[in-house]
Amino acid sequence: MAQDIVKLNSQSSRPANQQRPIRVLQITDCHLHTSLDWKLAGINTQISFEWVMALAAQQKSQTDLLLLTGDLVHDASAVGYTRLRNSVQEFGIKACCLPGNHDNPEMLTRHMRGGLVEVPKEVKLGNWVIIMLYSTQPHSEGGHLSDRELQTLERSLRENTDRHALIALHHHPVHINSAWMDKMALDNPEPFLSILDHYDNAKGVIWGHIHQPFDAEHNGVRMMGTPSTCIQFIENQDKFGISTAPPGFRWLELLPDGGINSGIDRIAALPPGLDLKTAGY
Ligand SMILES: [Fe+2]
Repeated sequence: MAQDIVKLNSQSSRPANQQRPIRVLQITDCHLHTSLDWKLAGINTQISFEWVMALAAQQKSQTDLLLLTGDLVHDASAVGYTRLRNSVQEFGIKACCLPGNHDNPEMLTRHMRGGLVEVPKEVKLGNWVIIMLYSTQPHSEGGHLSDRELQTLERSLRENTDRHALIALHHHPVHINSAWMDKMALDNPEPFLSILDHYDNAKGVIWGHIHQPFDAEHNGVRMMGTPSTCIQFIENQDKFGISTAPPGFRWLELLPDGGINSGIDRIAALPPGLDLKTAGY
């Protein structure tokens, strides 16, 4: 099947030593809703999202791409997706989306397209390619990469050996030292990691889902998880727990030589109302 390819600010005709870093902001796990009053663990997710986007807007002039990595609309509603698409369009930077376990992939694909907003499988920026994989499966909070997605990954890496590659998906492909969350990880990481091992151009993997930062390396590939734009989970804890950490996003600088600079920026504080006694989400 033909892949959707988005080329943004392409500089592919320039030699590698004249490329500039590509700047990406990862926005994830917004858990928006049909209702503007809806709350997750006591937090109004729409307000929290807007505060995070206001912080992100301070970096807009240096940013090439927004990457939205799933759990975008908690009730997977047309109203929620349409509102989000309008917000991203207003933000004014090209945005690429993939679904999480709380999304409906078909609804997301239908409503998160148009203008600056795309749902591609591959994005080319300078001498980088970002490969977008779907890891959701019906009626499950955990992740799985179908044979088709694995083939997409391998083909994209093989066809772009002259580019460095960042792979984006919703679920974490490596455990994060949190038993309850690791039960909802990618359930077939072996073929995924094996493909990465075979391609030197695979430089980094980013995901959502875990509502907390994670930054490690696996066989030379950078592995990065990212805070939600709403509630955060306690890090390195085996039981479910809500953290008081403020929401935020991840910024990435994809360097011409294949290096990745990255970090987390957070708003000063959560909107009011956090319920630390919440037993689940
Ligand atoms: Fe989430």
